[in-house]
Order: sequence, then structure tokens, then C-alpha cells
Amino acid sequence: MKKIIMILSVLLAISLSACSQKKTATKMEQKVLVAYFSATGTTKAAARQLAEVAGADLYEIKPEQPYTDADLDWQNKQSRSSVEMQDKHSRPAISGKLQNMNEYNVVYVGFPIWWYTAPTIINTFLETYDFKGKTVIPFATSGGSSIQKACADLAAAYPEINWKEGKLLNRTSKVDLQKWVERNR
Ligand SMILES: Cc1cc2nc3c(=O)[nH]c(=O)nc-3n(C[C@H](O)[C@H](O)[C@H](O)COP(=O)(O)O)c2cc1C
Repeated sequence: MKKIIMILSVLLAISLSACSQKKTATKMEQKVLVAYFSATGTTKAAARQLAEVAGADLYEIKPEQPYTDADLDWQNKQSRSSVEMQDKHSRPAISGKLQNMNEYNVVYVGFPIWWYTAPTIINTFLETYDFKGKTVIPFATSGGSSIQKACADLAAAYPEINWKEGKLLNRTSKVDLQKWVERNR
């Protein structure tokens, strides 16, 4: 009987220690957020796919005042997007606020390329939260331009953020997305 009790206590101790090890491993896992702004839906689709592959939560950066087709007319110098993009200090307001940003340690930030860079609402987003200690990874969709200038502009504007290399997600295959996400872990 004594022997059985001893064996049972050893088994209990082993299972308890396995449990606590599992807890520690979970704690150390990254909590990932995919935050994106999308005016016409292309970046939204890319963001959804990225969030699925990365096992991340998804957050849409919604402008307080949605962009109309006329606002997005890049051929009109007086359109809202043209005016905003010509003004380095423009900070279009975002509707609502993410309450649990402090829980994330990796944040993918997605946007359409506007005038070769990130729309200024991305500046609003980056200035709304404290990104200290977080890794921030840009992604974008475009009509053909690369993401390089957007990444350089963001890194120059927010040098305190720990940036990782960004990626243009125009027609990116799921396999490529998986490889990129894996490299970012
Ligand atoms: C105001 C404005 C400026 C744009 N500037 C560029 C540009 O400089 N280079 C480019 O390749 N595409 C440019 N585009 C195209 C968008 O980047 C592209 O259509 C993007 O996929 C749209 O994403 P969304 O549907 O998530 O808004 C521009 C679009 C708009 C509305």
C-alpha cells in the first residue's frame, strides 16, 4: 500500500511539473496583432490572410470620416487624400480605440501605398499607442510601387520603435506568407 501511495505521489508530481512547464511555454509565446487601414478593400483582404497565417488578432484602423471615391482621387490635387498626403502634419482621426494594445508584443501594421508611402492615418495610429518594447512590422498593397519608401519614412519618423523589414503583399501566396511570418517569430 505504501509503495502504491509513493508511486501515485511521484506520478502526481511529474504531471504537475509538466503542467507548469506548459504554462511557462504559453506565457513566452508571442501575442500578435494585425492592424490595418484599407480604403477600398485590397489591404483588408491581405490583412485577413496574414492574421489567419500568423494566428493573430485583427484590428481595422477605421477613419472617423470614411474616404469617399472623390476623397481618393489622386489625380485631383484638391482631393482629401491629395491634401492630406501633401501635409506632413496631417493626422486623420481614427474611430474608436483598441483597449488591449498593451497585451501585444508583435504588431503588423498594414496600409495601401499612397504617393509611394504610408497614408497619414498610419501616423495617427502609431502616435495613439505606446509601441515601446513591441516589434512592429509593416505590410502594404499597392498598384505597383514597392513598400521600401514607406518603411524608410516610418523608421525615420519613429526611430524608437523596433521595426522589422516590411513586405508588400500584392498577390502573395499563402506559402510565402507562412515563410515570412515564420521569419518574424
Ligand atoms: C490616393 C492614392 C494614392 C495612391 N498612390 C499609389 C502609389 O504611389 N503607388 C502605387 O503603386 N499605388 C498607389 N495607389 C494604389 C493603391 O496603393 C492600391 O490600389 C492599394 O492596393 C489599395 O488598397 P486598399 O484597397 O486597401 O485601399 C494609390 C491609391 C490612392 C487612392
